[in-house]
Amino acid sequence: MERKLAVPASGTGSLLEAMCEKGLPVELVVADRRCRAIDVVAPKYGVPFVLLERTDFSDSFDRVNYTARFEQTLLDRGIGVVAMAGFMTVLADKFFGGPLADDLINIHPSLLPAFKGDHAVRDALAYGVKVTGTTIHKATPEIDVGPIIAQEVVQVMPDDTVEILHERIKRVERRLYPAVIRTLLQQ
Ligand code: GRF
Repeated sequence: MERKLAVPASGTGSLLEAMCEKGLPVELVVADRRCRAIDVVAPKYGVPFVLLERTDFSDSFDRVNYTARFEQTLLDRGIGVVAMAGFMTVLADKFFGGPLADDLINIHPSLLPAFKGDHAVRDALAYGVKVTGTTIHKATPEIDVGPIIAQEVVQVMPDDTVEILHERIKRVERRLYPAVIRTLLQQ
């Protein structure tokens, strides 16, 4: 039996949209803020969504409590695969000792281990690399270091801006991520 898919997102939701367009059975979208992913994309495809709003972005953010609510939301719906697509809240370590720890994946817009972090596209461009790309990996407590599942190279062009290069990377991601997720759902 196919496992149930949840997609945590915080932004544009174009990867979520690609999953829906390709007919992936997204059971739930989880957002940490109001964003296009839940305001536009989830309603457009009739996908249920939950807003676990994060109002505190300071150092005193209660990450443990937020993570517990996040985990419980997924468990309540019998989710088996969690594919983060631009979700911007780092989960507390406890999640990685829990029942969904082995089923959490992430996509990052660089060829890891190069250019970890929130500004991967900007940093790659600033460094002057001639190729960059995307990485799909298992998520672990340490950010952007989990075992790699798939990667694909994207060319950097001479006149690229961060926006143009990121969009070129996302075009690849919109094809690669749904394909990888489809395989995982069947495992
Ligand atoms: C993607 O580039 C992904 O690699 C990164 O966040 C971006 C999400 O894009 N983790 P979108 O919000 O789905 O358009």
